[in-house]
Amino acid sequence: VIHYTIPLHLDKHTYPIYVGQHIFASTELLARHIRGKQVCIITQEKIAALYLQPLLRALQGYQCAVFSLPDGEQYKNLDEWRKILDLLLQQGHERSTTLIALGGGVVGDITGFAAACYQRGVNYIQIPTTLIAQVDAAIGGKTAVNHSHGKNMIGAFHQPQCVIADVNLLQTLPAREYIAGLAEVIKYGLIDDAMFFGWLEMNRDALLAKKTDALLHVMHVCVSMKARIVSEDERDLGRRNLLNFGHSFGHALEALGQYQRFLHGEAVAIGMAMAATLSGDLGLIPVATVQRIVNLLQSFGFVLNDSLPTSAELIQLMRRDKKMQLGKMNLILLSGLGRAEKVSTVSESQIEQMLQKFSSYK
Ligand SMILES: NC(=O)c1ccc[n+]([C@@H]2O[C@H](COP(=O)([O-])OP(=O)(O)OC[C@H]3O[C@@H](n4cnc5c(N)ncnc54)[C@H](O)[C@@H]3O)[C@@H](O)[C@H]2O)c1
Repeated sequence: VIHYTIPLHLDKHTYPIYVGQHIFASTELLARHIRGKQVCIITQEKIAALYLQPLLRALQGYQCAVFSLPDGEQYKNLDEWRKILDLLLQQGHERSTTLIALGGGVVGDITGFAAACYQRGVNYIQIPTTLIAQVDAAIGGKTAVNHSHGKNMIGAFHQPQCVIADVNLLQTLPAREYIAGLAEVIKYGLIDDAMFFGWLEMNRDALLAKKTDALLHVMHVCVSMKARIVSEDERDLGRRNLLNFGHSFGHALEALGQYQRFLHGEAVAIGMAMAATLSGDLGLIPVATVQRIVNLLQSFGFVLNDSLPTSAELIQLMRRDKKMQLGKMNLILLSGLGRAEKVSTVSESQIEQMLQKFSSYK
Protein backbone atom coordinates (compact mmCIF):
# COMPACT_ATOMS: atom_id res chain seq x y z
CA VAL A 1 0.00 0.00 0.00
CA ILE A 2 1.26 3.46 -0.88
CA HIS A 3 0.29 5.75 2.01
CA TYR A 4 1.70 8.98 0.61
CA THR A 5 3.21 10.16 -2.64
CA ILE A 6 5.27 13.28 -2.01
CA PRO A 7 6.48 15.12 -5.10
CA LEU A 8 9.90 16.73 -5.19
CA HIS A 9 9.60 19.71 -7.51
CA LEU A 10 12.69 20.88 -9.38
CA ASP A 11 13.13 23.16 -12.38
CA LYS A 12 13.94 20.42 -14.84
CA HIS A 13 12.65 17.29 -13.17
CA THR A 14 9.91 16.53 -10.67
CA TYR A 15 9.86 13.08 -9.14
CA PRO A 16 7.73 11.17 -6.63
CA ILE A 17 8.75 9.84 -3.24
CA TYR A 18 6.46 6.93 -2.45
CA VAL A 19 6.00 6.13 1.23
CA GLY A 20 4.19 2.97 2.18
CA GLN A 21 4.24 -0.66 3.19
CA HIS A 22 5.12 -3.67 1.05
CA ILE A 23 5.82 -1.50 -1.96
CA PHE A 24 9.52 -1.95 -2.70
CA ALA A 25 9.02 -4.96 -4.95
CA SER A 26 5.97 -3.80 -6.88
CA THR A 27 6.42 -4.56 -10.59
CA GLU A 28 3.89 -1.92 -11.52
CA LEU A 29 5.54 0.83 -9.46
CA LEU A 30 9.03 0.00 -10.73
CA ALA A 31 7.87 -0.23 -14.34
CA ARG A 32 6.55 3.33 -14.18
CA HIS A 33 10.12 4.53 -13.71
CA ILE A 34 12.17 2.13 -15.83
CA ARG A 35 12.70 3.36 -19.36
CA GLY A 36 14.45 0.47 -21.15
CA LYS A 37 14.81 -3.27 -20.77
CA GLN A 38 17.96 -3.25 -18.64
CA VAL A 39 18.35 -2.73 -14.90
CA CYS A 40 21.21 -3.11 -12.44
CA ILE A 41 20.54 -3.55 -8.73
CA ILE A 42 23.26 -2.32 -6.39
CA THR A 43 23.04 -3.61 -2.84
CA GLN A 44 24.98 -5.26 0.01
CA GLU A 45 25.11 -8.93 0.95
CA LYS A 46 23.21 -8.57 4.20
CA ILE A 47 20.44 -6.64 2.49
CA ALA A 48 20.44 -8.98 -0.51
CA ALA A 49 19.83 -11.93 1.80
CA LEU A 50 16.69 -10.23 3.07
CA TYR A 51 15.24 -8.42 0.08
CA LEU A 52 16.90 -9.27 -3.23
CA GLN A 53 14.72 -12.24 -4.21
CA PRO A 54 11.39 -10.38 -4.11
CA LEU A 55 12.94 -7.52 -6.07
CA LEU A 56 14.34 -9.87 -8.71
CA ARG A 57 10.94 -11.51 -9.04
CA ALA A 58 9.36 -8.11 -9.60
CA LEU A 59 11.91 -7.42 -12.35
CA GLN A 60 11.53 -10.71 -14.20
CA GLY A 61 10.87 -9.10 -17.56
CA TYR A 62 14.16 -7.17 -17.56
CA GLN A 63 17.82 -7.95 -18.23
CA CYS A 64 18.94 -7.64 -14.64
CA ALA A 65 22.50 -7.33 -13.27
CA VAL A 66 23.30 -7.36 -9.55
CA PHE A 67 26.28 -5.78 -7.83
CA SER A 68 26.89 -6.45 -4.16
CA LEU A 69 29.00 -3.98 -2.21
CA PRO A 70 30.91 -5.06 0.92
CA ASP A 71 29.35 -3.68 4.09
CA GLY A 72 30.79 -0.46 5.50
CA GLU A 73 31.35 3.23 4.91
CA GLN A 74 34.93 2.54 3.77
CA TYR A 75 33.58 0.82 0.65
CA LYS A 76 31.83 3.97 -0.54
CA ASN A 77 34.95 4.56 -2.60
CA LEU A 78 36.24 4.95 -6.14
CA ASP A 79 37.36 1.30 -6.40
CA GLU A 80 33.85 -0.04 -5.81
CA TRP A 81 32.33 2.70 -7.98
CA ARG A 82 34.60 1.60 -10.80
CA LYS A 83 33.57 -2.03 -10.36
CA ILE A 84 29.95 -0.98 -10.86
CA LEU A 85 30.87 0.78 -14.11
CA ASP A 86 32.93 -2.27 -15.21
CA LEU A 87 29.95 -4.54 -14.65
CA LEU A 88 27.63 -2.26 -16.62
CA LEU A 89 30.08 -2.19 -19.53
CA GLN A 90 30.77 -5.93 -19.43
CA GLN A 91 27.06 -6.64 -19.55
CA GLY A 92 26.43 -4.21 -22.37
CA HIS A 93 24.21 -1.78 -20.50
CA GLU A 94 23.05 1.04 -22.72
CA ARG A 95 22.14 4.62 -21.92
CA SER A 96 18.56 3.55 -21.34
CA THR A 97 19.54 1.33 -18.39
CA THR A 98 18.23 2.02 -14.89
CA LEU A 99 20.29 1.50 -11.75
CA ILE A 100 18.42 0.55 -8.59
CA ALA A 101 19.93 1.30 -5.17
CA LEU A 102 18.66 -1.22 -2.62
CA GLY A 103 20.29 -0.24 0.67
CA GLY A 104 21.22 2.50 3.10
CA GLY A 105 23.01 5.77 2.44
CA VAL A 106 26.23 4.05 1.42
CA VAL A 107 24.55 2.09 -1.36
CA GLY A 108 22.38 5.05 -2.37
CA ASP A 109 25.29 7.49 -2.61
CA ILE A 110 27.56 5.23 -4.67
CA THR A 111 24.72 4.10 -6.93
CA GLY A 112 23.70 7.68 -7.59
CA PHE A 113 27.26 8.63 -8.44
CA ALA A 114 27.65 5.63 -10.77
CA ALA A 115 24.38 6.64 -12.45
CA ALA A 116 25.59 10.24 -12.75
CA CYS A 117 28.74 9.14 -14.60
CA TYR A 118 27.83 6.05 -16.63
CA GLN A 119 27.59 7.20 -20.24
CA ARG A 120 27.28 10.79 -18.99
CA GLY A 121 24.28 10.00 -16.86
CA VAL A 122 21.64 7.27 -16.70
CA ASN A 123 18.46 6.90 -14.68
CA TYR A 124 18.33 5.44 -11.20
CA ILE A 125 15.79 4.54 -8.55
CA GLN A 126 16.31 4.76 -4.81
CA ILE A 127 14.95 2.01 -2.57
CA PRO A 128 16.28 3.16 0.81
CA THR A 129 16.45 0.50 3.53
CA THR A 130 17.71 2.48 6.56
CA LEU A 131 15.97 5.25 8.45
CA ILE A 132 18.73 7.74 7.55
CA ALA A 133 18.35 6.88 3.89
CA GLN A 134 14.53 7.00 3.96
CA VAL A 135 14.27 10.40 5.64
CA ASP A 136 17.40 11.98 4.24
CA ALA A 137 20.10 10.38 2.05
CA ALA A 138 17.88 8.98 -0.72
CA ILE A 139 16.13 12.31 -1.25
CA GLY A 140 17.64 15.28 -3.00
CA GLY A 141 20.15 13.99 -5.52
CA LYS A 142 23.40 14.42 -3.61
CA THR A 143 25.58 11.53 -4.69
CA ALA A 144 29.19 10.85 -3.73
CA VAL A 145 32.03 8.56 -2.77
CA ASN A 146 34.69 9.15 -0.14
CA HIS A 147 38.38 9.88 -0.71
CA SER A 148 41.26 9.40 1.72
CA HIS A 149 41.27 13.20 1.99
CA GLY A 150 37.68 13.36 3.16
CA LYS A 151 34.13 12.08 3.16
CA ASN A 152 31.94 12.71 0.10
CA MET A 153 34.79 14.56 -1.63
CA ILE A 154 33.95 13.22 -5.10
CA GLY A 155 30.39 13.37 -6.29
CA ALA A 156 27.67 14.99 -8.32
CA PHE A 157 24.14 16.26 -8.09
CA HIS A 158 22.04 13.68 -9.89
CA GLN A 159 18.36 13.20 -9.09
CA PRO A 160 16.68 9.78 -9.09
CA GLN A 161 13.56 8.90 -11.10
CA CYS A 162 11.73 8.10 -7.89
CA VAL A 163 12.26 7.06 -4.28
CA ILE A 164 10.41 4.04 -2.92
CA ALA A 165 10.45 4.25 0.87
CA ASP A 166 8.94 1.09 2.33
CA VAL A 167 8.73 1.39 6.10
CA ASN A 168 8.47 -2.38 6.52
CA LEU A 169 12.12 -2.67 5.50
CA LEU A 170 13.08 -0.89 8.71
CA GLN A 171 11.90 -3.80 10.83
CA THR A 172 15.13 -5.71 10.13
CA LEU A 173 17.41 -2.73 10.73
CA PRO A 174 19.67 -3.28 13.79
CA ALA A 175 18.56 -1.21 16.82
CA ARG A 176 21.74 0.87 16.92
CA GLU A 177 21.39 1.88 13.25
CA TYR A 178 17.71 2.66 13.73
CA ILE A 179 18.27 4.88 16.78
CA ALA A 180 21.12 6.68 15.03
CA GLY A 181 18.65 7.46 12.24
CA LEU A 182 16.28 8.99 14.76
CA ALA A 183 18.85 11.75 15.31
CA GLU A 184 18.16 13.00 11.78
CA VAL A 185 14.43 12.73 12.46
CA ILE A 186 14.78 14.86 15.60
CA LYS A 187 16.83 17.33 13.56
CA TYR A 188 13.83 18.07 11.32
CA GLY A 189 11.78 18.98 14.39
CA LEU A 190 14.51 21.23 15.74
CA ILE A 191 15.18 23.18 12.56
CA ASP A 192 11.70 23.59 11.15
CA ASP A 193 8.78 22.12 13.06
CA ALA A 194 8.19 22.73 16.76
CA MET A 195 4.91 20.78 16.64
CA PHE A 196 6.75 17.75 15.35
CA PHE A 197 9.30 18.15 18.13
CA GLY A 198 6.39 18.01 20.61
CA TRP A 199 5.03 14.96 18.83
CA LEU A 200 8.41 13.24 19.22
CA GLU A 201 8.37 13.96 22.96
CA MET A 202 4.95 12.31 23.22
CA ASN A 203 5.58 9.36 20.93
CA ARG A 204 9.00 8.17 21.92
CA ASP A 205 7.90 4.69 22.98
CA ALA A 206 5.94 4.04 19.79
CA LEU A 207 8.91 5.15 17.72
CA LEU A 208 11.43 3.09 19.63
CA ALA A 209 9.11 0.10 19.13
CA LYS A 210 9.04 0.84 15.36
CA LYS A 211 5.24 1.07 15.36
CA THR A 212 4.03 1.43 11.79
CA ASP A 213 1.69 4.36 12.42
CA ALA A 214 4.44 6.29 14.15
CA LEU A 215 6.89 5.52 11.35
CA LEU A 216 4.45 6.62 8.69
CA HIS A 217 3.89 9.92 10.49
CA VAL A 218 7.63 10.49 10.83
CA MET A 219 8.13 9.71 7.16
CA HIS A 220 5.39 12.09 6.10
CA VAL A 221 6.80 15.01 8.09
CA CYS A 222 10.48 14.40 7.31
CA VAL A 223 10.16 13.51 3.64
CA SER A 224 7.87 16.49 2.98
CA MET A 225 10.29 18.82 4.72
CA LYS A 226 13.35 17.49 2.94
CA ALA A 227 11.56 17.64 -0.42
CA ARG A 228 10.49 21.24 0.20
CA ILE A 229 13.95 22.38 1.28
CA VAL A 230 15.65 20.65 -1.67
CA SER A 231 13.18 22.11 -4.14
CA GLU A 232 13.93 25.60 -2.80
CA ASP A 233 17.71 25.12 -2.98
CA GLU A 234 18.75 22.07 -4.98
CA ARG A 235 22.46 22.95 -5.06
CA ASP A 236 22.82 23.69 -1.35
CA LEU A 237 23.68 27.36 -1.78
CA GLY A 238 21.33 28.71 0.88
CA ARG A 239 18.43 27.21 2.74
CA ARG A 240 19.53 23.60 2.31
CA ASN A 241 22.49 24.47 4.61
CA LEU A 242 20.05 24.39 7.53
CA LEU A 243 19.94 20.61 7.18
CA ASN A 244 23.53 20.70 8.44
CA PHE A 245 22.32 21.60 11.92
CA GLY A 246 24.52 19.68 14.39
CA HIS A 247 26.74 18.42 11.58
CA SER A 248 29.78 20.70 12.02
CA PHE A 249 30.31 19.38 15.53
CA GLY A 250 29.12 15.94 14.44
CA HIS A 251 31.63 15.64 11.60
CA ALA A 252 34.45 16.67 13.93
CA LEU A 253 33.37 14.03 16.45
CA GLU A 254 33.17 11.37 13.76
CA ALA A 255 36.67 12.21 12.59
CA LEU A 256 38.03 12.25 16.16
CA GLY A 257 36.53 8.79 16.65
CA GLN A 258 38.19 7.70 13.42
CA TYR A 259 34.77 6.87 11.97
CA GLN A 260 34.74 3.81 14.24
CA ARG A 261 33.47 5.08 17.50
CA PHE A 262 30.26 6.85 16.48
CA LEU A 263 27.70 6.11 13.85
CA HIS A 264 26.92 9.25 11.86
CA GLY A 265 23.59 9.77 13.63
CA GLU A 266 25.12 9.33 17.07
CA ALA A 267 27.69 12.02 16.33
CA VAL A 268 24.95 14.27 14.92
CA ALA A 269 22.89 13.82 18.11
CA ILE A 270 25.81 15.06 20.23
CA GLY A 271 26.48 17.81 17.68
CA MET A 272 22.86 18.98 17.87
CA ALA A 273 23.01 19.11 21.67
CA MET A 274 26.21 21.16 21.37
CA ALA A 275 24.68 23.53 18.83
CA ALA A 276 21.58 23.91 21.02
CA THR A 277 23.72 24.62 24.08
CA LEU A 278 25.66 27.23 22.15
CA SER A 279 22.40 28.78 20.94
CA GLY A 280 21.38 29.05 24.59
CA ASP A 281 24.72 30.57 25.60
CA LEU A 282 24.36 33.22 22.90
CA GLY A 283 20.89 34.08 24.13
CA LEU A 284 19.21 32.91 20.94
CA ILE A 285 16.97 30.43 22.77
CA PRO A 286 15.95 30.18 26.45
CA VAL A 287 17.91 27.83 28.70
CA ALA A 288 14.68 25.87 29.31
CA THR A 289 14.51 25.08 25.59
CA VAL A 290 18.09 23.83 25.61
CA GLN A 291 17.19 21.55 28.49
CA ARG A 292 14.14 20.26 26.64
CA ILE A 293 16.27 19.37 23.63
CA VAL A 294 18.92 17.66 25.74
CA ASN A 295 16.21 15.72 27.60
CA LEU A 296 14.63 14.51 24.38
CA LEU A 297 17.94 13.34 22.92
CA GLN A 298 18.81 11.53 26.14
CA SER A 299 15.36 9.95 26.33
CA PHE A 300 15.97 8.38 22.94
CA GLY A 301 19.12 6.83 24.35
CA PHE A 302 21.79 9.15 22.99
CA VAL A 303 24.78 9.41 25.32
CA LEU A 304 25.88 13.01 25.07
CA ASN A 305 29.01 13.39 27.12
CA ASP A 306 30.86 10.13 27.35
CA SER A 307 34.57 11.10 27.36
CA LEU A 308 34.26 14.00 24.95
CA PRO A 309 37.24 15.56 23.17
CA THR A 310 38.85 18.61 24.67
CA SER A 311 37.84 21.93 23.20
CA ALA A 312 41.30 22.26 21.64
CA GLU A 313 40.87 18.96 19.77
CA LEU A 314 37.38 19.84 18.63
CA ILE A 315 38.28 23.35 17.52
CA GLN A 316 41.35 22.15 15.65
CA LEU A 317 39.21 19.80 13.61
CA MET A 318 36.54 22.39 13.00
CA ARG A 319 39.21 24.82 11.82
CA ARG A 320 40.07 22.41 9.04
CA ASP A 321 36.43 22.39 8.06
CA LYS A 322 35.62 24.79 5.26
CA LYS A 323 33.11 26.60 7.44
CA MET A 324 35.79 28.50 9.33
CA GLN A 325 36.78 32.04 8.36
CA LEU A 326 39.13 34.48 10.16
CA GLY A 327 38.80 32.79 13.54
CA LYS A 328 35.02 32.84 13.36
CA MET A 329 32.88 29.87 12.58
CA ASN A 330 29.87 29.54 10.36
CA LEU A 331 27.44 27.42 12.28
CA ILE A 332 23.78 26.55 12.02
CA LEU A 333 22.19 27.46 15.35
CA LEU A 334 18.65 27.67 16.70
CA SER A 335 16.81 30.96 17.08
CA GLY A 336 13.81 29.11 18.48
CA LEU A 337 12.44 25.62 18.73
CA GLY A 338 11.71 24.76 15.09
CA ARG A 339 13.75 27.68 13.76
CA ALA A 340 17.34 27.49 12.55
CA GLU A 341 19.65 30.09 11.10
CA LYS A 342 23.22 30.48 9.97
CA VAL A 343 25.41 32.38 12.42
CA SER A 344 28.88 33.48 11.34
CA THR A 345 30.12 35.21 14.47
CA VAL A 346 30.85 32.31 16.81
CA SER A 347 34.32 32.56 18.36
CA GLU A 348 36.54 29.78 19.60
CA SER A 349 36.23 30.91 23.20
CA GLN A 350 32.44 30.63 22.97
CA ILE A 351 32.88 27.04 21.84
CA GLU A 352 35.20 26.39 24.77
CA GLN A 353 32.61 27.77 27.18
CA MET A 354 29.91 25.66 25.61
CA LEU A 355 31.98 22.50 26.03
CA GLN A 356 32.49 23.23 29.72
CA LYS A 357 28.76 23.49 30.25
CA PHE A 358 28.22 20.44 28.10
CA SER A 359 30.30 18.18 30.29
CA SER A 360 27.81 18.72 33.13
CA TYR A 361 24.94 16.97 31.30
CA LYS A 362 24.07 13.78 33.09
N1 LIG B 1 23.26 11.92 -0.09
C1 LIG B 1 22.85 12.51 1.02
O1 LIG B 1 22.16 13.53 0.98
C2 LIG B 1 23.19 11.90 2.33
C3 LIG B 1 22.55 12.33 3.50
C4 LIG B 1 22.86 11.70 4.70
C5 LIG B 1 23.78 10.66 4.73
N2 LIG B 1 24.39 10.26 3.58
C6 LIG B 1 25.36 9.16 3.57
O2 LIG B 1 24.71 7.99 4.02
C7 LIG B 1 25.68 7.10 4.58
C8 LIG B 1 25.13 6.54 5.86
O3 LIG B 1 23.95 5.85 5.55
P1 LIG B 1 23.31 4.76 6.50
O4 LIG B 1 23.26 5.30 7.88
O5 LIG B 1 22.06 4.33 5.84
O6 LIG B 1 24.44 3.62 6.56
P2 LIG B 1 24.69 2.29 5.70
O7 LIG B 1 24.26 2.44 4.31
O8 LIG B 1 26.11 1.92 5.97
O9 LIG B 1 23.75 1.21 6.41
C9 LIG B 1 23.95 0.90 7.76
C10 LIG B 1 23.99 -0.61 8.01
O10 LIG B 1 22.67 -1.14 7.98
C11 LIG B 1 22.60 -2.28 7.13
N3 LIG B 1 21.24 -2.29 6.61
C12 LIG B 1 20.71 -1.41 5.75
N4 LIG B 1 19.41 -1.63 5.61
C13 LIG B 1 19.09 -2.69 6.37
C14 LIG B 1 17.88 -3.37 6.64
N5 LIG B 1 16.71 -2.94 6.15
N6 LIG B 1 17.92 -4.43 7.45
C15 LIG B 1 19.09 -4.82 8.01
N7 LIG B 1 20.26 -4.20 7.81
C16 LIG B 1 20.26 -3.13 7.01
C17 LIG B 1 23.68 -2.04 6.12
O11 LIG B 1 24.07 -3.23 5.52
C18 LIG B 1 24.77 -1.42 6.99
O12 LIG B 1 25.46 -2.41 7.68
C19 LIG B 1 26.95 7.91 4.74
O13 LIG B 1 27.86 7.53 3.75
C20 LIG B 1 26.51 9.35 4.53
O14 LIG B 1 27.53 10.14 3.96
C21 LIG B 1 24.11 10.85 2.38
